[in-house]
Amino acid sequence: MIETRLTQRFGLTYPVLNAPMALVAGGALAGAVSRAGGLGLIGGGYAGTLGAEPNLAAEFERAGGSRVGVGFITWALAQAPSQIDHALALKPACVFLSFGDPGPFAARIHAAGVPLICQVQTLGQVDAAVAAGATALVAQGTEAGGHGGARASFSLIPEVADHLARTSPETLLLAAGGIADGRGLAAALMLGAEGVVVGTRLWAADEALTPAAAVARAIAGTGDDTVRTRAVDALRGVAWPREFSFRIMRNRLTETWAGRESEALANPGLLRADYEAARSRADLDMVATVAGEAIGLVHARGPAASIVANLVDEAELCLVGGAQAVKT
Ligand SMILES: Cc1cc2nc3c(=O)[nH]c(=O)nc-3n(C[C@H](O)[C@H](O)[C@H](O)COP(=O)(O)O)c2cc1C
Repeated sequence: MIETRLTQRFGLTYPVLNAPMALVAGGALAGAVSRAGGLGLIGGGYAGTLGAEPNLAAEFERAGGSRVGVGFITWALAQAPSQIDHALALKPACVFLSFGDPGPFAARIHAAGVPLICQVQTLGQVDAAVAAGATALVAQGTEAGGHGGARASFSLIPEVADHLARTSPETLLLAAGGIADGRGLAAALMLGAEGVVVGTRLWAADEALTPAAAVARAIAGTGDDTVRTRAVDALRGVAWPREFSFRIMRNRLTETWAGRESEALANPGLLRADYEAARSRADLDMVATVAGEAIGLVHARGPAASIVANLVDEAELCLVGGAQAVKT
């Protein structure tokens, strides 16, 4: 049993959340993670501002009555603020906000009695998240799949832990980025986290909405086969704030553009039509396959419940006997 303030506060068996991955973490994955003893999150993505987005009510139904939370990309939610009311009406177990100022949404989330979890990428974002009344922060390292910042987990997590210990000891801390097995969970706990947010490993769960061909590429690849870039968002015409880049698997699109950030940023939307066409024909060479460096630790697809149970079993072994106690 790994009991932390997170498991106590949220009534969990395991200190594991799935990341609220847009168009990957639907109700099936979130429900499976919650039933396995963690806390499942549905990805609310761009809060409907990008077009093809999840139907939250339908995804909550798919969670099959399990207690699940919901996450949004904060700067996009700011363009469709009523979506937070829609989400709160579904009685989520928590709201997870990342990539932008959580302040404008905090009052409504607190009024609904729902815990707020804020993901941060720098120490500079911590105080605003605490001021917004976050129950928990997630320190996200740059290994992470999807959007993120530039700081690596190994120093970011303890730095945030120390800062919280001084300024807001009641705020919980979780870690995200590169955590795909028990070694990662055990290490995150050692660095001062009280739980973890797992993206890439659960992106490859049976219940995730991830296409089989994308998972097959990830399994065939290594952690060297991802890249962090701002070019792809610019080219597809999605206006991400400057401080965030996108970790995706290397493919023909990134080989062509990943080194040409300034040119791409100067031409927003240059490939919008081509990108949409590639997406509709599921062309993995020309659309982003969103996954993190942890693909190097993903060797098979499998049920979320086994992934979560293995992660925790291995972490327990590591905490007692060190990483050598685990056969990988
Ligand atoms: C496919 C994918 C989609 C993601 N989408 C979101 C998202 O919509 N909102 C969000 O806050 N984070 C998103 N993330 C980032 C996660 O919140 C988390 O920080 C990350 O997955 C953790 O690192 P890992 O992928 O190495 O486990 C996404 C990650 C992946 C892999």
